Amino acid sequence: MRILLLGGTWFLGRAIAQRALLSGHDVTTFNRGRSAPDLHGIAVVRGDRTDEDDVRRLASHGPWDVVVDTSASEMAPYQVQAAARMLAGVADRYVYLSTVNAYTGWPHEPLDESSPTYYAPPNSGRDFGAEQGTTIHYGMQKAGCENAVRDAFGEYATILRPGVILGPGEYVGRLPWWLRRSERGGAILAPGRPVQSIQPVDVRDVAAFALDAPLGDFNVAAPQGRATMGDFLTACLEATGGRGRLVWAPDGLLKKFGVREWTEMPLWRTAHGAWAVDSRRAVGAGLSCRPLEQTVADTWAWLVSGQEPVKHPRWDDHGIDSEKEQKILAVLG
Ligand SMILES: NC(=O)c1ccc[n+]([C@@H]2O[C@H](COP(=O)([O-])OP(=O)(O)OC[C@H]3O[C@@H](n4cnc5c(N)ncnc54)[C@H](OP(=O)(O)O)[C@@H]3O)[C@@H](O)[C@H]2O)c1
Repeated sequence: MRILLLGGTWFLGRAIAQRALLSGHDVTTFNRGRSAPDLHGIAVVRGDRTDEDDVRRLASHGPWDVVVDTSASEMAPYQVQAAARMLAGVADRYVYLSTVNAYTGWPHEPLDESSPTYYAPPNSGRDFGAEQGTTIHYGMQKAGCENAVRDAFGEYATILRPGVILGPGEYVGRLPWWLRRSERGGAILAPGRPVQSIQPVDVRDVAAFALDAPLGDFNVAAPQGRATMGDFLTACLEATGGRGRLVWAPDGLLKKFGVREWTEMPLWRTAHGAWAVDSRRAVGAGLSCRPLEQTVADTWAWLVSGQEPVKHPRWDDHGIDSEKEQKILAVLG
């Protein structure tokens, strides 16, 4: 297959590039050459997707069987629309990496692919929805980008909506923080309930599905009930040598101390629907999720291999300050 990857160098895009090469596909990436180097064996076209001339030049390198777009997380719908329209003449179909944030109900309600998404026109600008606050604005922008892809490719679009993606190369700093904290050992503040189901998905499993997924919309998350917060933190302890001891803090206590969900305690989220994403449609279409323990162990192996992650600007937002952690642990005895 001839594949065009918009992005393709950082975290998910890199994993897709690796997988595509391993599967023997002919891969072209398009990026500015800023975030991370391209893999060997790939045809690289340098350019900015927001620049019409660059995208026109890119299109002259086609045709492709499929475009896989991971580089749109900071793009406004009108920018995705402009690039997708130009590529529609040289590519058969388009796979767009969206997010569960595109649903109006996330993270408050359980959801499947029939749940309502935000509405934003395919040509909306960066400010569309800004007055709604950061989370809703992001969801509206991503929903608008989905519409932009549908506007250009019609039924030949695949929309993938992952929840939290973890794995080797992670640039956000969620699993890396938990692993480094586990390595330090001692009493480790563990958020909420050990039996809380969580659904992080391995970046390599998202990559494989992105290349094989049929047309349509798919939630991309590990199946519900397959792993818990307790499994996750135990796996972190095991991977890093098992020197720590988990001390579980109820949600209410963490809230009393003003602990920020999602960032200060990565993966801790109390809203009812945060980990109630139905991914059975994707599983039925071929999404295969490896055990969370393997994701954790492989990410630790990657972290200690000396390869520096190319960090996301939000990396430093993750993890609780150790003084604050000690204060909460003191209350728990
Ligand atoms: N991480 C998660 O937990 C998570 C969860 C849900 C959904 N997602 C979605 O997954 C996707 C993230 O993938 P990723 O960031 O790992 O992808 P990636 O493809 O590995 O990285 C982003 C790529 O986009 C390129 N890029 C950025 N701006 C560009 C521009 N103006 N013109 C051309 N190229 C540009 C970057 O290269 P240069 O900077 O060199 O140009 C880089 O290669 C996003 O769509 C995100 O919404 C992620």
